This record gives sequence, C-alpha cells and structure tokens, in this order.
Amino acid sequence: MKVLVVGGGGREHALAWKIGQSNRVERVFVAPGNAGTATDEDAPLENVEIADSDIPAQIEFAKQNNIDLAVIGPEVPLAAGVVDALTEAGVRAFGPAQQAAELEASKVFCKNLLRHADVAQAEFRTFADAESALSHLNAREDAPAVVKADGLAAGKGVIVCDNRAEAIDAVKRIAGDGAGGQEGEFGAAGRQLIIEERLVGQEASVLAITDGQTILTMPAAQDHKPAHDGDRGPNTGGMGAYSPTPLVTDELMSHVEEKILVPTVHQMKRSRRPFRGVLYAGLMITKHGIKVLEYNVRFGDPECQPLMMRLQSDLVDVLGATVDGRLDEVKPMQWDPRLSVCVVMASEGYPAAYEKGHPIRGLDAAAQLPDVKVFHAGTKLSDGQTVTSGGRVLGVTALGDTVSQAKLQAYTAVKCIRWDGAWCRKDISDKALG
Ligand code: AMP
Ligand code: GLY
Repeated sequence: MKVLVVGGGGREHALAWKIGQSNRVERVFVAPGNAGTATDEDAPLENVEIADSDIPAQIEFAKQNNIDLAVIGPEVPLAAGVVDALTEAGVRAFGPAQQAAELEASKVFCKNLLRHADVAQAEFRTFADAESALSHLNAREDAPAVVKADGLAAGKGVIVCDNRAEAIDAVKRIAGDGAGGQEGEFGAAGRQLIIEERLVGQEASVLAITDGQTILTMPAAQDHKPAHDGDRGPNTGGMGAYSPTPLVTDELMSHVEEKILVPTVHQMKRSRRPFRGVLYAGLMITKHGIKVLEYNVRFGDPECQPLMMRLQSDLVDVLGATVDGRLDEVKPMQWDPRLSVCVVMASEGYPAAYEKGHPIRGLDAAAQLPDVKVFHAGTKLSDGQTVTSGGRVLGVTALGDTVSQAKLQAYTAVKCIRWDGAWCRKDISDKALG
C-alpha cells in the first residue's frame, strides 16, 4: 500500500511513523512533512513538496502515485473540504467530510449540536455582533466568563476572563468594537461569538475513531496548553501530553462513551452530517460532572504523539476500515500498558514571534536512548542539517513503567538536544502524580 499523510507537524510525524510500520505499507508520503519525516530510519517515509492547504496538488499527487489511502492531519484542510475532494477524485481519504468538520470549524454549530444531543457542556449564548454581546455582558452579573470566536483561529480564539471588564475587552478583540463594521483580530472567524460560563476543573482529552456507527475509543490523554510551568502564561498549541491519565478512570471513560461520544455521533447522523474520522473531545472534569469544552475533528497535537508511541495494533487497518464504513469488523486497538510522556521543545519567544533557522544538535544521542522517540514538528533540512522552522520544534516522547519513569526518560532525552533559544516546560505529566 501507498499512503499519503497530509500535514507537517509532530502529529503527522507520529502518524506517518506508525503507519509506515505496517507490513502492508510500502511507502508513506508526507505533504509537506518536516526534517523528521525526511530522515526517519524506522519507517519508509518520504516528503513531497505540497502544502497541507494545496488540495488540487494533493489530488494530482494521489492519482499519479496510486495512493491507496490519504490521511489528513490538520483541521484547516478538513474544514476546506479536502476529504470530499479526494473522495470525489476516487482517492480513499481518512477524515470527516466538510459538513462534519463543522463540529470543529464552527463552535456555534458544535454548541447547538451538543444542546440537541443533550450532552453536558458550559451554559452559553451566541451573538452575531459585538453590540448584542456587549449589552448582554452589561446586563449580566459581573462573573467569570469565556468568550470564543466561532471559527478556526489556531487555538487562539478562546479568551478566558475573570470578570466583566475582561470579557468586554475579549468581545472587542474578537468581534471588533461594534462601530463602523470593523472586524476583530480573528477576521471572519469572529463574525459570530459565544459567551459561556467559565467551568472549573481538570482537563482531559478523549480521542475516538468512528465510521459513524462504531466507535473505538483511545486511552485518555492530558495536554498542557499554557506555555509555562504550573499552567501559567499564554495559551499555546500544547506544550506536552501524556497518556493514559489517571484523571479518567474506567468508570469515567464509560460515562464519556455513553453520555458524550455516542449521543454526538448519533446527532451528527441525524443532522445528515455522518461523522467519519477522529472525534476528539476536549473535556473538563468539574464538581458537577464531566463536560465538553470543545470538539476537534482530528488527532490532537501533541496528544497524538504519546498515543502513537503506545499503539500496538496496525493503524492502517483501523483507518482503512473507518473510510470503508466497516469499523465493526476491526478488533479493539491494543495499547502498550506502559505510560507515555511527550515533552514539546519550543523556540524562544513562542507562542509569540520567534526566530527560525537555528541548527539542532544532539538528535542522534537522544535517539539512542531506549524507549525514546523524537517526533519533529517545526524542523526542516537546510544543506543536509536539521534546523528549526517553527514555534513547536520537537515532541520528545518516551515510554516508562510508571509516569515518573516515562517523565525521567523524556527529560533525559531533552537534555541531549540543544539549539539557541530552546526551551520546554519542566512539569509535563506532574498532574498524573496528583
Ligand atoms: P477550546 O479551544 O474550546 O478547547 O478552549 C481552549 C482552552 O480554553 C481549553 O483547553 C480550556 O483551558 C479553556 N476553556 C474553554 N472553554 C472553557 C470554559 N467554558 N471554562 C473554562 N475554561 C475554558
Ligand atoms: N492539543 C490540542 C489540539 O490539538 O487542539
């Protein structure tokens, strides 16, 4: 089989690496990939110079190279309809159709769908302009709130506010000041907005693969979104993750399946938007039960990295059966019983502006450690040398019998690696220790 993975981050390196280990797979092309997918010696990977947003070029490549399966990593091409376009061109493609990707691409759509499905979530109201949102805030008691842009905003369209004044400011940032029809920081993504109740609790990510009928749940993971230790600083795409997390007990997982995932998949079907792909529930475990913060329609990044590190089943079988609508024929996925911790190493300045092009040293030493895999995210090859090219640069991932052992091994590998301005959080997985 020949597989095309679309995307160039840590998630796509982890997916391509796992897919390439299937004995049915002869080659995995990654569009555009990174230095890690260009040089990985564990699997037959090869980069192709096609942007993750260039759908016509992906179709052309898939047809010319007889691609048997395309796997789409990021949300932007999914929301733009890449799966519909590939399918129409006769290419089997893993991921939701454009209409189903609305679950992530429109937070208003998601909130309304969850309401119809009777799935627990934060109380909310939606607004089509800044004026109505501002008058709602002025009429409401002065309390913590979360203001969200409706559309895709690379994880930045959610502003958690302590009080009314901050919420007013957030509305103006997202939707403009309500005067002169000017758009906010997130452009069209902020044309509708949500103001919702601020929930308090621990967060966890539960990812499941579904063909719209059968649901295969993966072990729960926990992301670390804030930039600095102790969950301080600005939000990022995710500074590290580990799996499984003891926060989600077996009992809680059954509850998530029965009361959250199953009703969501049913409601999507009833809305004539059958969901096929990865359903990623961002959850908050509150005093009043577990609630959905958001859905993503793809593997999480970095969560995908510790998950792929533990997956023992053939991923291609699962992805192919999903596309073909016969996930009921696939055995439950098998997981390494050990824990996995992934520490993201980032460029100085991230999530704000950062420099690129710094040579990375010590990758070979890190790779020689047992039970370690360094997935690449923002890297590229320059004259044969691996250099930084993004904010999140590497996902240093390790297995261990206990969370402390996995953490120690991941940070031992981190210590081997250096470039000018490299940094990481030092506390990834500490929440598992209570
Ligand atoms: P989202 O993209 O909706 O997952 O939001 C990004 C982050 O914002 C989440 O991981 C939470 O940390 C936070 N967040 C979102 N919604 C809420 C809420 N209703 N209450 C508290 N925090 C929230
Ligand atoms: N780790 C969060 C995300 O992938 O959206």
